[in-house]
Amino acid sequence: MNVLGIESSCDETAAAVVREDGVVLSDVVASQFEVHTPYGGVVPELASRAHLSNVVPVIEQAVRVLPRGFADVDAIAVTNGPGLVGALLVGLSAAKAIAWSRNLPIVGVNHLVGHLLAVYLRRSAETPAVELAMPYVALLASGGHTALYRVDGPSDIAQLGETRDDAAGEAFDKVAKLIGLGYPGGPIVDKLAALGDPKAIKLPLPMRNKHGLEFSFSGLKTAVAQHVHKHGVPTSEREQADLCASFQRAVVRSLVDKSLAACAREGVPRLVLGGGVAANRGLRTLAAERCAAVGVQLFVPPIASCTDNAAMIAYAGAQRLIRGERDTLDLSVFSRSPPMTSSLSRSQSA
Ligand code: KG4
Ligand code: ZN
Repeated sequence: MNVLGIESSCDETAAAVVREDGVVLSDVVASQFEVHTPYGGVVPELASRAHLSNVVPVIEQAVRVLPRGFADVDAIAVTNGPGLVGALLVGLSAAKAIAWSRNLPIVGVNHLVGHLLAVYLRRSAETPAVELAMPYVALLASGGHTALYRVDGPSDIAQLGETRDDAAGEAFDKVAKLIGLGYPGGPIVDKLAALGDPKAIKLPLPMRNKHGLEFSFSGLKTAVAQHVHKHGVPTSEREQADLCASFQRAVVRSLVDKSLAACAREGVPRLVLGGGVAANRGLRTLAAERCAAVGVQLFVPPIASCTDNAAMIAYAGAQRLIRGERDTLDLSVFSRSPPMTSSLSRSQSA
């Protein structure tokens, strides 16, 4: 089964064709990076307009890999939340038009479920299947979300804890803006942090030993703002690097501490990292060290599977289709009960 996935929840217009076994046949992402950079963050109206321009070419490019084009697409999977409403509507409208005109089954996919199952994507037919048994604990850390989940099955997912305020990626972006580093800040901070001393500046370690599996990053961001207020915006690369390294260390320690606490609490020795922040080298390194020390198996998907993409949406949709689930063309962003949203419930044991 070839599933065409379409994703437009934030600032990437993406389309991909994925087989139900996770093999990615095509994966096209049109980034709106240049559109939003002058504003230092995503501007929803501009995002919708850019999706409108990009959605058709991106889908056409994704389908081109199939010998008979659209005739080889068996089903459509589309992100129908959460995300920017105007942005989601563009992908949803395109998906419905294709499903209607070609009489194909369509399923809506929760964007977060896409991230949580992305670990099973196989970037080529030669890539062996990922040997990851369920249940597993997943840390999803992106620009819009930071939360821990227990995944018992593609439709059996419980949230264990989430951030009380900023998402981790949002904190990276805001700190980068404070220091005048540009947007999106995560990759720039990551690069500079590698050159700095993580102990140079004393910053609070968010929610250390407190509040179970919840995160908080706004206090840390304020501490960076106060440092900048007191000492001025760092001008030399040395000062920038030290501040980035100190900030990144605090975020990454919090993410890893809570992830391992979740594994211990759930009695699950398997941890998956996902979302754009999973690209962070500091996070990858510390997670690998700490997991090895306590006997937790760590799964970190390739970066293309961590950041927003449509392959993860196609794969998560395929799992719904395999279970015989279908949506109708009434599918909407505000869909009252998308089958996977209800399963993203809070764990009763939290
Ligand atoms: O998952 P994603 O592509 O989109 C959302 O769903 O938000 O994540 C984007 C976020 C941005 O905040 C970006 O700054 C952050 O992920 N990010 C990083 C790195 N690469 C991307 N944060 C820290 N280190 C990185 N290397
Ligand atoms: Zn995302």
